[in-house]
Amino acid sequence: MQRDRHLYRITGGQPLRGSVTVGGAKNAVTKQLVASLLTTEPSVLTNVPRIVEVEIVLHMLTELGAAVEWLDPTTVRVQTAEITNASLSELYSGVNRIPILMMGPLLHRVGESSIPLPGGCRIGKRPIDFHLAGLRQMGAEVTELPRSVTVKALKLEGTHVTLPFPSVGATENILLAAVLAKGTTVIHNAAVEPDVLDTVHFLQQMGALVSVEVDRTIVVEGVEKLRGARHRPINDRIEAASFAAAAVATDGRVEVCGARQEHLVTFLNHLRKLGGEFQTTEHGILFYRERKLTAEHVETGVHPGFMTDWQQPLVVLLTQAHGASVIHETIYEDRFGYTDQLNQMGANIALSTECLGGRDCRFASKDFEHSAIVMGATPLRGMPLEIPDLRAGFAYILAALVASGTSEITGTRYLERGYEDPVGKLRSIGAQVETVPAPDPTD
Ligand code: EPU
Repeated sequence: MQRDRHLYRITGGQPLRGSVTVGGAKNAVTKQLVASLLTTEPSVLTNVPRIVEVEIVLHMLTELGAAVEWLDPTTVRVQTAEITNASLSELYSGVNRIPILMMGPLLHRVGESSIPLPGGCRIGKRPIDFHLAGLRQMGAEVTELPRSVTVKALKLEGTHVTLPFPSVGATENILLAAVLAKGTTVIHNAAVEPDVLDTVHFLQQMGALVSVEVDRTIVVEGVEKLRGARHRPINDRIEAASFAAAAVATDGRVEVCGARQEHLVTFLNHLRKLGGEFQTTEHGILFYRERKLTAEHVETGVHPGFMTDWQQPLVVLLTQAHGASVIHETIYEDRFGYTDQLNQMGANIALSTECLGGRDCRFASKDFEHSAIVMGATPLRGMPLEIPDLRAGFAYILAALVASGTSEITGTRYLERGYEDPVGKLRSIGAQVETVPAPDPTD
């Protein structure tokens, strides 16, 4: 993991006002870059966010043989005319969740591959058993080693795969393996997040035959060959919700250009119920506070439910709402660790191993602190904060913006993995954010 380029010094207490534009969705773009490996022809993606995660994925593709060219600041052309290297270096072990998705494309291109074990944010165990079981079912020989996975297959074959849980990554993995497989693959209990569907749209433009049917079923008829395509990925609905929460939490008024109502329906319902409001505009959605904020009950879930990645800015918003809010996290078992530092700032958040306020989830009776009770409203005080993961990163920025005084935030490398120019965007809507070069640990 890289070290911080700089830390942020944020002085809170100002309502945010103005307009901000969200970039392309990290979790769509990075998968589409992987999909580009399925053809020898060039593909062009526009609306690509300038985030560290994209830089990392482009480095990975280059290591496999891709030629990468930026045609303008947000348009990238990628062509892998030949796979010059089917094994991604172990340097990428633990870096992110992307290498595991390369197995299908590499099997089609060269019949084998070795991929470092994935990492990603520290929010739960995040196993890859569904991915490997799916590939095995399609005929791949899979060997798990301590730091990597190797796969071999002469030809992948279509089959029926039923996912135990609608995993985004496992759905994408099987999809990328199925588009060039022999015969038809049916993915039951598939994830149908907008990012997954956007990647389906890119694959369809490449020549794939994919249909998304009722009851989370995706049917893929394998084709012989795919071609390059040009695609504009959807905008980032996590970044959009993050700025929406910032507008309401600071009692400001922010137009989030590029935000799309159809991707935010569940978020918008909860925002309204807790006292926020919105209006769609020509360019996006305007967010503001309608009344005194009041407690809300939210359960995260798979699409079209409330995204787990919206949970962290929401929790900060709920620290400013009157009454007891309950949040039940059903996607990751360990995604509330970041609340400790919020409590040190003055929040009153208690964690529970129970499934609070809703149905039992996969984590019932398993001793995971996956529910939270937020008692509000509590004033927050600025203090030094260390970001533990990407989405908690924006929550800390938001807490610092709401707090009195100044907060010095380290661990900004996590935030910059997935948020495009966060400092520039925040300053443009009136946030007081200074960047300070991070101390060199070797000094
Ligand atoms: N799971 C398994 N086995 C598997 C795969 C998943 O048990 O083989 C479990 C996970 O442990 C988790 C649940 O299934 O409890 C859902 O995980 P999923 O596979 O859906 O998540 P992912 O594909 O690893 C993506 C996003 C996450 C986002 C989730 C849920 C990317 C790179 N990451 O992760 O985004 O939270 O889907 O929507 O697409 C982020 O952007 O900060 C982020 C963490």
